[in-house]
Amino acid sequence: MEKIDLKRLPRHIAIIMDGNGRWAAQHTLGRASGHKKGADAVRTVVKTCREIGIGYLTLYAFSVENWLRPAEEVSVLMKLLEEYLNSELASMIENDIRINIIGDLEELRPSIRKALKEAMTKTAHCRTMVLTIALSYGGRDEIVMAVRKIAADVTRGKIVLAEISKELLSTYLYTATLPDPDLLIRTSGEYRLSNFLLWQSAYTEFYFTDVLWPDFQKKDLIAAIAEFQKRERRFGLTSDQVREEMKG
Ligand code: FPP
Repeated sequence: MEKIDLKRLPRHIAIIMDGNGRWAAQHTLGRASGHKKGADAVRTVVKTCREIGIGYLTLYAFSVENWLRPAEEVSVLMKLLEEYLNSELASMIENDIRINIIGDLEELRPSIRKALKEAMTKTAHCRTMVLTIALSYGGRDEIVMAVRKIAADVTRGKIVLAEISKELLSTYLYTATLPDPDLLIRTSGEYRLSNFLLWQSAYTEFYFTDVLWPDFQKKDLIAAIAEFQKRERRFGLTSDQVREEMKG
């Protein structure tokens, strides 16, 4: 914990939780066990973020592409999510954590949709941290959805063509109410964005670690934040300009 400056924390951390399957194989267990252990790592990370004061945490739990996995694995993942939401709800309320779900929820089975809706409604008043779970989510799909909605609003005369801007498009995305991520972590030694937060991560700092998601612990999160704090974020400016802006 001494490794990080609590006054300069990333406001929004996004995580691609990868490596559950490989963790299971390493332990000669079935993939389901890897996902189960992965759900425990989710608990640890949520708790740590809340403790240190991260305002927004976004987890990539299930991509649109994940629907193509064997039906049994999809079912295990859905069950784990439902269990997670049901078992953590009281603790979320107690810790003032708002649950936010993004993705194409139409694709989900009714019992999960019910659990999601309940989790969102019952935590809607919570303010200290926002936990966003990306489910049946795809970054390109999200942008297409936003473009369709904008086109519909232009057709209806709600907005005019000249009003379409980067800022306006952002308000049509699932993440309209969230700041862009400052730090994006991907575990398991893979160096890809895999269709996650494509628009939102334009200026995000990326951190890759070989640690498999089920092994990801508090110390690994702290190491990622420490690395983030060493970086200079320039947003396209020069170092001199950034230093001047900091002074001003
Ligand atoms: C990637 O590992 C992980 C997933 C596709 C699912 C992530 C789900 C969880 C961590 C559990 C439940 C989530 C919550 C929010 C409670 P992989 O299966 O692709 O691993 P591999 O690349 O090693 O096969």
